[in-house]
Amino acid sequence: MKKGGFAGYVALILVTTLLQTCLVTAFLADAAPQPFATAYGFPGFSSMRHRSILRDEVAARLKELGNVSDSKHVLERTFLSPAAVAAGRLLITWMKDAGLRTWEDKLGNVHGRSDGANATAPALLLGSHLDTVIDAGRYDGALGIVTAIAAVKALKIEGKLQQFPRPIEIIAFSDEEGIRFQTTFLGSSAVAGTFQPKHLKNLDARGISIGAALRAASHEGTVESVSSMKYEPSSVWGYVEVRSGLRVPYRVHAMDLFLITCFRYLLL
Ligand SMILES: *[C@@H]1O[C@H](CO)[C@@H](O)[C@H](O)[C@H]1NC(C)=O
Ligand SMILES: *[C@@H]1O[C@H](CO)[C@@H](O)[C@H](O)[C@H]1NC(C)=O
Repeated sequence: MKKGGFAGYVALILVTTLLQTCLVTAFLADAAPQPFATAYGFPGFSSMRHRSILRDEVAARLKELGNVSDSKHVLERTFLSPAAVAAGRLLITWMKDAGLRTWEDKLGNVHGRSDGANATAPALLLGSHLDTVIDAGRYDGALGIVTAIAAVKALKIEGKLQQFPRPIEIIAFSDEEGIRFQTTFLGSSAVAGTFQPKHLKNLDARGISIGAALRAASHEGTVESVSSMKYEPSSVWGYVEVRSGLRVPYRVHAMDLFLITCFRYLLL
């Protein structure tokens, strides 16, 4: 954060507060199941109607994604590993199913985007990381991606995705944990424009550099290609990530309300 550091800080506080509000509401939902989406001013959008997507499909997909592993015994997906590539492909099919245009960028991040009503307006970014630590829980990272896809899919079914006032883009980042190359946030740093070019020479345990790993995965793996990935701050409206570092998520059966409430706040 250089220019606008203070504004960024305020935005972070706002987003954190928003997420906390959503979580508290999600917990309350268990106590008194109601058509909350309507009560919270999202007319015509029934969280009950989309329960199969926002709750059941989220839970099933988290299980399915949690099965995509490099190890037979524990969950393990490191940067550009065979399981990470397979997970990216699976996410692309789910993003397409949610009505998004998809692509993989030059650092292996997987994107799905809808232009909404104004393709040039700053985009709402959602997502999390698709890599894992070794012996990971199935919700770490996956939760933020799978719930974002579910929320967008529900908007699509309601016919509200095209009317959304700005683009929505889901990003599944290729590296957050830094397990393979001992350098964290490779995926998001390239999008934020803070990727250190010297890291392309970092080696994994088998002596393969990040640059070579990218080239093996059909990317250019050059300083220029990675630098070109930066998103201008003016093109981004905000970024929201649903997180759980735990093996047990927030109560997934309250997820429908949680997502709807988040979208209600974000639309205002
Ligand atoms: C996960 O893998 C196990 C073992 O291969 C399989 O029995 C199960 O059906 C899989 N679950 C999902 C949700 O894909
Ligand atoms: C679309 O967004 C851009 C950038 O914020 C803005 O300049 C433009 O007026 C918007 N167009 C419409 C039709 O609202």
